[in-house]
Amino acid sequence: MGEKNSVVPRIPDVTEKKRRERGPIKKNHLLRSKMLRILLVVTVAFVGANGIAIGQETSGDSELARHYNSRYSIFDEPYNIEFKYHNYEQMSRFLRTTSLRFQNLTALYSIGKSVKGRDLWVMVVSSSPYEHMIGKPDVKYVANIHGNEAVGRELMLHLIHLLVTKYGSDQYITWLLDNTRIHILPSMNPDGFEVSKEGSCDGGQGRYNARGFDLNRNFPDYFKQNNKKSQPETEAVKEWVSKIQFVLSGSLHGGALVASYPFDNTPNSLFQSYTSTPSLSPDDDVFRHLSLTYSQNHGSMFRGAACSASQPGFKHGITNGAEWYPLTGGMQDFNYVWNGCMEITLELSCCKYPPAEDLPHYWEENRVSLIKFLAEAHRGVHGFVIDENGNPVERASVKVKSRDISFFTTKYGEFWRILLPGVYKLEVYANGYSPREIEFMVIEQHPTLLNITLHTTKITHDDERRHVTASEEERRRKGRRKPVWS
Ligand SMILES: *[C@@H]1O[C@H](CO)[C@@H](O)[C@H](O)[C@H]1NC(C)=O
Ligand SMILES: *[C@@H]1O[C@H](CO)[C@@H](O)[C@H](O)[C@H]1NC(C)=O
Ligand SMILES: [Zn+2]
Repeated sequence: MGEKNSVVPRIPDVTEKKRRERGPIKKNHLLRSKMLRILLVVTVAFVGANGIAIGQETSGDSELARHYNSRYSIFDEPYNIEFKYHNYEQMSRFLRTTSLRFQNLTALYSIGKSVKGRDLWVMVVSSSPYEHMIGKPDVKYVANIHGNEAVGRELMLHLIHLLVTKYGSDQYITWLLDNTRIHILPSMNPDGFEVSKEGSCDGGQGRYNARGFDLNRNFPDYFKQNNKKSQPETEAVKEWVSKIQFVLSGSLHGGALVASYPFDNTPNSLFQSYTSTPSLSPDDDVFRHLSLTYSQNHGSMFRGAACSASQPGFKHGITNGAEWYPLTGGMQDFNYVWNGCMEITLELSCCKYPPAEDLPHYWEENRVSLIKFLAEAHRGVHGFVIDENGNPVERASVKVKSRDISFFTTKYGEFWRILLPGVYKLEVYANGYSPREIEFMVIEQHPTLLNITLHTTKITHDDERRHVTASEEERRRKGRRKPVWS
């Protein structure tokens, strides 16, 4: 599809506040250099951000017009999704048809193009598809990162179909879509998929993008320098997640049956690549819970059976990523450390690209877990950081004491932390304000709402140092790429 025919508007250029690179606050054992603060506070106003402007398709979709000639409207056709693999054209058509039929529930946008110029479609399903609902979480699924891992891609189309057709009749799905914006990227590697072979259970044909890069080794890494040249598909995802504050995410793969959680990499992977040493994050309890939510609601994952004699089995169908095998440049660590988004990796089928006749089985196995997992975005604590005048404080660092990864507030001052029941302390820092520490409780039944008012202060450099954010200099020293938005 050429530019002119490209009917779906893209995410607008980065116009948001020029932001500092998101930096984790490090655990002591990871703290290798002193933290310097960034003095520069850029105050350029920004637009878009959470509610990216994604316009509805206008008229002039010539392909659809040809397909549904003047005698028919798409509303005359039954709205079905078959259990077969959809190539790029068929997938695009399904998504466009869905966005036309369910204009109040869906929005279709492209986050960029693959090497070969295929759109990286994202479909939002929500009762507020075009606008971020202030105070309510945005969540996502990303599938088909490895082009030959095809089950997740098809499941995403079925999930979209289920959500839009059950809204209004199924109470749980109605609640979910009324309170969550679900963004679904069915294929992050459409070029790889096109050269993959149905029935091919193993192997690498189609795994990589059109330039031969493994996209799940292509992200900035927390532990090690990643020298792989960043690919257009990766850049698109990085820009996307920098514009929308996603709270929870699933990355869908195949070739195993397990829910795997951060960290994927480890500080000393050189020595650990042949052993199975876990690399635990400060939110390990939460990641285990999220992974168990998936495996327990899944048709067979929880049993943890090995896919073959040469593969490991997994207790309760979950594993720490590095404990399975460490990798550099994975997407889930990136989401968590850089973007305050809890992402886990879902391996959904022993066979990477099983015959289409098996698809009903995979859908049945994953249907409930795909939905229940997303609802976990509503667990824990959320709220707003505001100043004395009630204005939102953007980019405040929100850290749960003893969980040394900082999340940051949105332009509306919102924050989310998924937490299990318990008593916690929240540490909130923002440039120009006195830091605050607030104790709060999380219960099982519903999320805790916590509004925090910060008071302006004349700060000394000593105080500022507590606002721990890795400096540009430190990032460069660690060899990380500058983010696309700077
Ligand atoms: C979509 O929303 C608009 C505005 O709220 C409403 O008038 C219209 O009936 C809705 N359409 C459908 C199909 O629900
Ligand atoms: C929390 O702050 C938000 C945004 O300022 C406001 O809409 C909401 O009513 C507040 N809730 C409570 C319980 O203070
Ligand atoms: Zn994979």
